Amino acid sequence: MKIKNTIFRIPVINNVLLYEETDSTNLRARQYAGAGCVDGTLIISDMQTSGKGRMGRSFSSPAETGIYMSLVLRPDTDPSRIPGITLIAAMAVSKALSRIENIQPQIKWPNDIVAAGKKIVGILTESGDNGRYVILGIGINVNNESFPEGISDTAGSLYQICGKKLCREDIIFHVWEHFSTYYAQFLDAGDLSFMINDYNSLLASYQKEIYIIPHDKTIHQINPYKIDTADIEPCLCMGIDPHGALICRHHDGRLELVNAGEVSVRGLQGYC
Ligand code: BTN
Repeated sequence: MKIKNTIFRIPVINNVLLYEETDSTNLRARQYAGAGCVDGTLIISDMQTSGKGRMGRSFSSPAETGIYMSLVLRPDTDPSRIPGITLIAAMAVSKALSRIENIQPQIKWPNDIVAAGKKIVGILTESGDNGRYVILGIGINVNNESFPEGISDTAGSLYQICGKKLCREDIIFHVWEHFSTYYAQFLDAGDLSFMINDYNSLLASYQKEIYIIPHDKTIHQINPYKIDTADIEPCLCMGIDPHGALICRHHDGRLELVNAGEVSVRGLQGYC
């Protein structure tokens, strides 16, 4: 991959490890982090045999189509601020993808990017050693022509939307270039105040009615993205607060702050 020639220009990247195949780049990253690798170690694999998503889900990771990568970070910040890194990553990926013709990415809070109504990107942030290191895993569906049964109604690829096969190295470069800038601002400011307006303008559910779904709600047996919304009162999405929580207004006027680890969000009209 020619990525090694360019990516070291990006301040946040200090080491790059390339795999043709691995189980999960998040698992590899955790192994390297545990063994003391440098802050900014990036693991990229051409395919994953066991790509991980949130809440025990899998992430479809076929060879030569998508981007599967994980960055080890050792942020000098309070562990309670770590969830903000997921939101920064979502912003960075959205900005990188919006450079592509006909792609208008939107963020599905907190960790997915959608375009043309389909999930294009998944982000999985994990921490270890009591918050001393963070694994930021990003999966992007780039040149996939189709998806396995069960996720094909919710998952999509950049190729399916823009009709062109895209260079994965270019996308990887631009993702980390944007991430590097936002991450430096985040560490400096200590919260996400600097990007709230920008983030809300990319938020798919901004000023729309959404369902807030607790993680224990029945998950559909065939399609893990289908969730039972019966008995859940919709509320209005008011955007994020400086710590990345979603501000929701209930019908009685009550405001609720929802934290990312605790819930999933669905639009009234479907996945976004
Ligand atoms: C989700 O959809 O819930 C998150 C998906 C995250 C997938 C990426 S692919 C690279 C990294 N390695 C993994 O095993 N998962 C993340």
